[in-house]
Amino acid sequence: MALYAIGDLHLHFQSPLKSQRQMRERVWKNHEEVFRRNCEALLTPEDTLVLVGDHSWGRKMEECEEDFRYIESLPGRKILVRGNHDMFWDAGKTEELNRRFAGRLSFLQGNFCSYGDFALVGTKGACFEGPFWLDRRGRILGWDEEAEARAKKLVERELARLRDSFEAARAAGFRRFLCFLHYPPTNILEEDSGFTRMAEEYGAEQLIYAHIHGENRFGDSILGEKNGVRYRLVSGDYRKWQPDKLLD
Ligand SMILES: [Fe+2]
Ligand SMILES: [Fe+2]
Repeated sequence: MALYAIGDLHLHFQSPLKSQRQMRERVWKNHEEVFRRNCEALLTPEDTLVLVGDHSWGRKMEECEEDFRYIESLPGRKILVRGNHDMFWDAGKTEELNRRFAGRLSFLQGNFCSYGDFALVGTKGACFEGPFWLDRRGRILGWDEEAEARAKKLVERELARLRDSFEAARAAGFRRFLCFLHYPPTNILEEDSGFTRMAEEYGAEQLIYAHIHGENRFGDSILGEKNGVRYRLVSGDYRKWQPDKLLD
């Protein structure tokens, strides 16, 4: 029995492709087939695979059905985290999705899933690279106060969802946690954030995130160990469609 994670499948069996990158870069060529082959070589039916957001380009559920069929047909138990492109997943409808796909797929947002002694907790997270834009040396290039107020609200809401997740798991008796976010947990300066602080507060052993595409961005947030938390980027192109093994 093992636990794996990967993110950003960006499937589009029924919807027009919306990313130039997916049409241009070699790593995206037939990525659905490459990923399926990798999963079939690696996972057994007893394993668990966490898909860390950006599952489908479909704008509504009817445009995602084939994408879901593809995900369901992968080996093992599948747990999905909400990404910024997952338009089918209204934030208030996680329970409804869990009822609809009961026994087939699990949707992780503000709730938790168990894996042995571990609780898997998670939410979408939030983007830190705006309303201010920094260059590589941390100099501010632009600023938007209205957008800043909006961004702060989004961060607060996502932090509340993550706390709900940890608290629900703790109330159920769990003391060991793995934390999943779609967005990276920090800005590009890798400063502490509410997400890194919460992971430390609850003693999460790993924080797994995705969302980052393209070689020149892979180092945008924390990789490796910091203050007792192991940070892992698992976006599909970073992993070259090979699921990352988190636990045995
Ligand atoms: Fe993505
Ligand atoms: Fe994303």
